[in-house]
Amino acid sequence: MADLDGKIAFVTGAGSGLGREIALTFARAGARVAVNDLRPEAAAEVGRALGGALACEPLAGDVADSGPSHAGSRRSAARPVATSTSS
Ligand SMILES: NC(=O)c1ccc[n+]([C@@H]2O[C@H](COP(=O)([O-])OP(=O)(O)OC[C@H]3O[C@@H](n4cnc5c(N)ncnc54)[C@H](O)[C@@H]3O)[C@@H](O)[C@H]2O)c1
Repeated sequence: MADLDGKIAFVTGAGSGLGREIALTFARAGARVAVNDLRPEAAAEVGRALGGALACEPLAGDVADSGPSHAGSRRSAARPVATSTSS
């Protein structure tokens, strides 16, 4: 996989199955990951598994919802709370 150092990945449906594995794979490649899932507890569990690779608080919500909650998720993902410092 490509080096994703310095990138932020937004993974929808990341609470289980393929999405969970994609989130963990992106993290192993160096990305910080914004985790979204319909199920808050599943998003939180993946957030814990990601540890320092988590880009922001896990984002619970329906990715098919184009309303304000989804827009809020995108704003949160663009505002990382966990940063990697390597200088
Ligand atoms: N083409 C293939 O060979 C193949 C193989 C496996 C899976 N798939 C497809 O890939 C998708 C994922 O499969 P999986 O096995 O990882 O499923 P899964 O049910 O294990 O995981 C899906 C995750 O997405 C979340 N989710 C569902 N709808 C959502 C929404 N609107 N917004 C946010 N989160 C949502 C669920 O809560 C769940 O955590 C499915 O659509 C499945 O049919 C395709």
